[in-house]
Amino acid sequence: MARRKKIYEGKAKILYEGPEPGTIVQYFKDDATAFNAQKKDVIEGKGVLNNRLSEFFMTGLNQIGVPTHFIKRLNMREQLVRQCEIIPLEVIVRNYAAGTMSKRLGIDEGTQLPRPIVEYCYKDDSLGDPLVTEEHIAAFGWASQQDMEDILSLALRVNDFLSGIMMAVGIRLVDFKIEIGRVYDGDFQRLIIADEISPDSCRLWDIETGQKLDKDVFRRDLGSLTDAYTEVARRLGVLPKTSTPITKPTLIN
Ligand code: TYD
Repeated sequence: MARRKKIYEGKAKILYEGPEPGTIVQYFKDDATAFNAQKKDVIEGKGVLNNRLSEFFMTGLNQIGVPTHFIKRLNMREQLVRQCEIIPLEVIVRNYAAGTMSKRLGIDEGTQLPRPIVEYCYKDDSLGDPLVTEEHIAAFGWASQQDMEDILSLALRVNDFLSGIMMAVGIRLVDFKIEIGRVYDGDFQRLIIADEISPDSCRLWDIETGQKLDKDVFRRDLGSLTDAYTEVARRLGVLPKTSTPITKPTLIN
C-alpha cells in the first residue's frame, strides 16, 4: 500500500490524508501526556481503547442528531473522520468541581455544581490553553455570536447524552472537554463535534466508590490507566466481557 501523507501529529493522535477529499484518517497512539506534556509515558493499549470508545460515543451522538466528524472505524487504531476547520477552543463542561476549577475557585473536588458550567480555553499549548471569556472569543474573531450559541447548545446536548449513558453504568461524568469543527455544505456552514471523546478528555468517577476511571489515574499516579479505560469500555459493552486483555500483542495492530 502506498505510504499515506501525514497531515499532523499531536500528543495522542496522528492525522493522515483520507482516501477521499474531505476525509481524514485519525490514528490513536498509545502516548499519554499531562501537564502540558511535562509528564509523558507510553501506555500500551490506550490508543486501541480510545479508538473504540470515541467510536462508541460519536456513533451514539450521530444517532440522536448531534452531528460529529465520525464516519467509520477502519481498524484497531484508526477511524475515518470528516475533515473540518477546528475552532481554536477547548470547550469544557463541568457538572462537579475538579481539577483547575477546584484550584481556581477553592471548591472541594466532587462538589456538585448548581448547574452545568461551560468554559472555554484558547487552544495553544505554548500558552498552556488559557481560560478565555466570550469577550475574547468575539473580539479576536475565533467564533461568531451564532457559533457561540451553537457551541453552547452542542456542548449541553453532549453533556446530557454522556451523563446519561455513564450514569446507566454506575459512572459519574464529572467534566469533559470537546472540540468543535466547522464544515461547509455548499454555501452553508455548520458546526460538528470533532477530535475525540474518550477517558483522556473526561473525568469519570465510579458512583459507588469514587474510583477514578480517567486520565487522572495517569496524572496523579493512581494505578494502571489501561485497567481504568478497559473498565469503562467493559461497562459500556464496547469490549466483550470475556475479551483478551487489551495489552496482549494479538489485539494491537
Ligand atoms: P481542567 O480541570 O480544566 O484541567 P486539568 O485536566 O488540567 O485539571 O479540565 C477539565 C476537563 O477537560 C478534564 O476532564 C480534562 C479536560 N481537558 C482536556 O482534555 N484537555 C485540555 O486541554 C483541557 C484544558 C481540559
